[in-house]
Amino acid sequence: MSKYVYLNNQYVNYKDAKIHIEDRGFQFSDSVYEVIKVINGKLLDIEFHLSRLKYSTIELNFNFKINKPSLKNIFLSLVKKNQLKNGIIYLQITRGIQPREHAYKKNLKPNIIVYTAKKKFNLPDKNYKGYKAITYPDIRWGRPDIKTTSLLANILAATEASKHGAYETILVKGKKVTEAAHSNVWIVRSKKIITHPANKEILKGVTRTVLKKIINSLNLKLIEREFSIKELMKAEEVFITSSGSLVTPITQVDKIKINKGEIGAITKSLALNLYKAII
Ligand SMILES: Cc1ncc(COP(=O)(O)O)c(C=O)c1O
Repeated sequence: MSKYVYLNNQYVNYKDAKIHIEDRGFQFSDSVYEVIKVINGKLLDIEFHLSRLKYSTIELNFNFKINKPSLKNIFLSLVKKNQLKNGIIYLQITRGIQPREHAYKKNLKPNIIVYTAKKKFNLPDKNYKGYKAITYPDIRWGRPDIKTTSLLANILAATEASKHGAYETILVKGKKVTEAAHSNVWIVRSKKIITHPANKEILKGVTRTVLKKIINSLNLKLIEREFSIKELMKAEEVFITSSGSLVTPITQVDKIKINKGEIGAITKSLALNLYKAII
């Protein structure tokens, strides 16, 4: 648990961090967020996170200008104050406070919350683990490319995974796979790596962006295209990426074992190369 929380220009104790009941983030999920990984005390891929945050706030017309140096300062101060070595920084910006009404007023003052949490990452060492995923309909709203806290569909999907002893939920729209409840999905077929294009149907993951560069540098073949649930089930390898999961192998989808239930060579190599790039 975070000892200190940043709340609108102040560092306060976790238990004293309070938000108004008419905050629009609380009432309507009218808010955006980012999750940034911290490994060995270092903030990772921060520029990508801040660019995506800017995108989210612009798409939703928030009255908020991203001040990158100031946000980085807050993150670094919290890492220090909370003595965080490995974990995540959670940042949430809400549109602000207003008497309850669907339509928002212009020029509300956003509420800014930042705190940290410890996390053990699935690193490609002797404890590297492959996980089970389930499939579930993608019933999210039409703009999952914006990183909002409107996550009810993701929550239902993730809870379904939990009930089945699975780590992730792969979301399916009609016959095609979009992404997962809290990560991007990749498959390997005939040694080619395939992932859904970063359009308005998925969140453009920061880990996805970083991994794309690594795949290119390794001269592996990457295809960004839609793929079907059938292709998923027949894939040689399946893995997911996110700031919290890094490159995590999926060795079972529903009742189907992928790669006989073993972690695939390409997945492991990408995880190792991502980790190398991180440290
Ligand atoms: C729906 C969804 N897709 C993809 C991702 C991966 O994004 P990132 O790599 O930036 O963590 C996340 C992360 O939270 C997510 O919630």
